[in-house]
Amino acid sequence: MTAVRDRLIFALDVSTAAEARAWVDRLGDSVSFYKIGMELLTSGDYFRVLEDLAGRGKRVFVDLKFHDVPATVAATIKGLTRYPVSFCTIHGQHDGMMRAASQEKGAIKLLAVTVLTSMDRSDLRQLGIDREPSEVVLERAAAARAAGCDGVIASGQEAAALRQANGPGFLVVCPGIRPAGPAGDDQKRTVDVPQAFAAGADYIVVGRPIRQAADPRAAAEALQDQIARALAG
Ligand code: C5P
Repeated sequence: MTAVRDRLIFALDVSTAAEARAWVDRLGDSVSFYKIGMELLTSGDYFRVLEDLAGRGKRVFVDLKFHDVPATVAATIKGLTRYPVSFCTIHGQHDGMMRAASQEKGAIKLLAVTVLTSMDRSDLRQLGIDREPSEVVLERAAAARAAGCDGVIASGQEAAALRQANGPGFLVVCPGIRPAGPAGDDQKRTVDVPQAFAAGADYIVVGRPIRQAADPRAAAEALQDQIARALAG
């Protein structure tokens, strides 16, 4: 059973190990699950930060959104199993790649990115896909599940349909959380915390609403309270 506090995943989108450490100190026990992604990769300390987080009792989500030929992605996922990683992302666009990666994931929960929460219908059209994001998300989730992935990354706007189509065991992880409504940044398919959990999200990923808050720790605690209320309710 997942601890309620683990349902909030903080996007540690910083570019140096020193900043990463400062955030973990600042947030204390208000955050127990950290997502480390591409921005931290160029610090040269990515895996040191990963191991520091685990050493401090935090869960770690490696969000590097792998997408390459199946053998390369599978070997990369296999390599990641040497580290204390709870979640990891790959793009959910190719069945063969997802199948190969799933076979090497060990205890890591493998999550397929369906359609980025920064994309709307017109962005999809630019990619040659003239369909609603929700249709594409559902189709890619079905393919990810069939290929052996543990869940998907999608917006809260698609969470209810994903839950209905895939049942209770399939993880639905939602970024694009904007507790105070749309913030005018790069996120387009946004929801707030009660909406995400009412729709059946298992986890939310939150970056800027915490990082840019006047009091980030208080903002994280407020989100934890909202999550606890939504799940109780
Ligand atoms: O700052 P913000 O709350 O928008 O952060 C969201 C995080 O979730 C970012 O690290 C972003 O890379 C990630 N993400 C996303 N949409 C996806 C997958 C990951 O926003 N579909």
